Amino acid sequence: MTSDQPESILQVWELQKTYRTGFWLNKTVPSLKGVTLSVEPGETFGLLGPNGAGKTTLLKIVLGIVRRSGGRAKLLGMPIGDRATRAQIGYLPENAYYYDYLTAWEFLSFMGGLFELPGGILKERIPQLLDWVGLDLATAKTKPLKQYSKGMLQRVGMAQALINNPDVIFLDEPMSGLDPTGRYRMREIILALKAQGKTIFFNSHILADVEQICDRVAILHQGELLTSGSLAELLPKTEQYQVQGYGMLPEAAKSLMTNLEEMGDRWSGQLQGDRQAFLNQLHNSSATLEQLTLHHQSLEEFFLAQIQDQDSGS
Ligand SMILES: Nc1ncnc2c1ncn2[C@@H]1O[C@H](COP(=O)(O)OP(=O)(O)OP(=O)(O)O)[C@@H](O)[C@H]1O
Ligand SMILES: [Mg+2]
Repeated sequence: MTSDQPESILQVWELQKTYRTGFWLNKTVPSLKGVTLSVEPGETFGLLGPNGAGKTTLLKIVLGIVRRSGGRAKLLGMPIGDRATRAQIGYLPENAYYYDYLTAWEFLSFMGGLFELPGGILKERIPQLLDWVGLDLATAKTKPLKQYSKGMLQRVGMAQALINNPDVIFLDEPMSGLDPTGRYRMREIILALKAQGKTIFFNSHILADVEQICDRVAILHQGELLTSGSLAELLPKTEQYQVQGYGMLPEAAKSLMTNLEEMGDRWSGQLQGDRQAFLNQLHNSSATLEQLTLHHQSLEEFFLAQIQDQDSGS
């Protein structure tokens, strides 16, 4: 690497994990089968994949919580597990188990203590963080966490992940289980962190959220990386139009369409070929076009297509 290139925040080479299970630990579950990826400074990176793909495993290895079976990884230029590096990262776990009888204030003070943050700093930072994630200060000082809703707990979790003012933040399914308002708020928080220049790595299977937030995504399936890149690179740019109308369609117009559906006089479908050629065909016929809209392939469609290709062995 040359000196004018900033070093990657995270680099993972051929990472492998095989869990041993069963009473005699004689069964093996291969969860990561040689994953290579990198995350650059200031990037919001989304690791996508269905349940059991290995997303949490990868995150836990990078954070030094789970031991890898093979491969290498570096976080902030250091081998994973380095103590000094841990002080610069924040982590929102997938299933955050909180201390039920503590208030949010007590919990955040406790977490700040683990980072050896002085009391004076915490007294300033905790109210700032509570405000930031949208939690009421008076409630945070009095209500035990067991009385919090899932959405409120997720916000406490986010405040906890930011207590040490980290440069790099790992979020494992930050939107899961949240209602639309909760998801919207979480998205706003992540976008605000991104605007501050933080590097964010997050796991998700909620594609719409990833699509709106991430600069780059990777798709993990059964422990293997299927693809990675920016959304602009991954989503094909070929233009597709959704068309809808009524009246007798000429055969030449039909041949330009896919997914043609006809119900009596009405028809709809997708236009693959030349839009102008289709319009010319209609012009010379009795058919009337009601709607023609540009259709972008969503990340969701792309994701499903990738996984289906893999499952069908192609
Ligand atoms: N502690 C463990 N012991 C044995 N197997 C495990 C363990 N943790 C995970 N696995 C297995 O490893 C695979 C990957 O699990 P992982 O939790 O990393 O997936 P994930 O992509 O995070 O899934 P989800 O979307 O459900 O959170 C699964 O087959 C899972 O059953
Ligand atoms: Mg997971």
